[in-house]
Amino acid sequence: MKLLITGGAGFIGSNFVQYMLKNYPEYEVVNLDALTYAGNLENLKKLENSQNYTFVKGDITDRATVDALFQKENFDAVVNFAAESHVDRSINEPDVFVSTNIMGTQVLLDVAKKYNTQKYVQVSTDEVYGSLDTDGSFTENSPIAPNSPYSASKASADLLVRSYYKTYNFPVNITRCSNNYGAYQFPEKLIPLMINNVREGREIPIYGDGQNVRDWIYVEDHSRALDRVLHDGKPGEIYNIGSNNEHSNLDMAKMLLNLMDAPESLITFVPDRKGHDFRYAIDASKISTELGWEPGYSFETGLQETVDWYRNNQDWLNHVVSGDYREYYSAYYSK
Ligand code: NAD
Ligand code: TYD
Repeated sequence: MKLLITGGAGFIGSNFVQYMLKNYPEYEVVNLDALTYAGNLENLKKLENSQNYTFVKGDITDRATVDALFQKENFDAVVNFAAESHVDRSINEPDVFVSTNIMGTQVLLDVAKKYNTQKYVQVSTDEVYGSLDTDGSFTENSPIAPNSPYSASKASADLLVRSYYKTYNFPVNITRCSNNYGAYQFPEKLIPLMINNVREGREIPIYGDGQNVRDWIYVEDHSRALDRVLHDGKPGEIYNIGSNNEHSNLDMAKMLLNLMDAPESLITFVPDRKGHDFRYAIDASKISTELGWEPGYSFETGLQETVDWYRNNQDWLNHVVSGDYREYYSAYYSK
């Protein structure tokens, strides 16, 4: 199989690129990534000498680049990770979310359809369903009700993907996964931000009262689920992905500080995020029943491995948090 992975230099995309090359050594993988602040070729260093892996720097909104790549490579399948992915940034700068997440998806769909690609997988998020109260969980039939510019742009992209199936019978799947954590995650997201702040002796900023709930999944479990959807997903179907790991942000912060032997007094409550979704929870029974996927990691094991990885990869973290990140951090958290 010749596979195009877009956004493969980011957190989840780079995990999936490595997962695919390890588990399917006969596949050819091309990674198209614009290398925004979140894209980092250090995430893929181990593949530098790999014969069946190619990196192409390019933007999914650039139709000429995307078209030329499809013409040259004749891909069998596309998995689209490329996106602006951080809710807080979307609140301050929504434009680029519309451009990459919506327009970029439309370019990819259009070009993939033009070249008769046999499978298109859109990596989406449970955030398109909006927010839950204390009970229940999202199923694939839950209404779309996004609340942030990020989730609205991902929901818009999902609707375009759906329309290419309904209108053109183009073979798509949409996956909607809960909050990921693991190695190589950019430290603007809560878990690596906390790990880095402990390392730097900084406070841990918790929005509002810390009672908001997220449903955590280890990134490798997400990659395994995407493998199942890529190979066996039924055309036009949506699959939720999640591993039943709900924790309030406050409880999760305490758990992490405990693991890191750091004092809970580092926790500092800061003003709440605008439009902060209260709770996400995924019902993943469809992918389990239909495609036989089950998560492999408990939260305790995954979190311990994540902490160990960041401890053992301080160079990666040092490079990532130099320059732009420091400016972002002081601009965002000094408000
Ligand atoms: P990330 O921000 O770490 O990586 C995004 C990647 O996309 C980067 O490598 C970046 O350079 C690239 N990119 C951005 N704009 C691009 C463009 N215009 N053209 C080409 N490449 C571009 O994101 P992530 O956390 O790895 O998320 C990957 C995907 O998974 C996203 O689509 C996101 O919506 C989805 N998702 C993420 C989570 C999560 O918890 N992180 C959960 C569910 C779904
Ligand atoms: P985040 O990692 O940004 O993921 P998402 O917003 O996509 O769920 O945030 C996870 C949760 O942690 C969310 O409820 C917001 C909260 N949060 C904080 O309390 N403090 C922070 O500094 C950050 C970045 C997030």
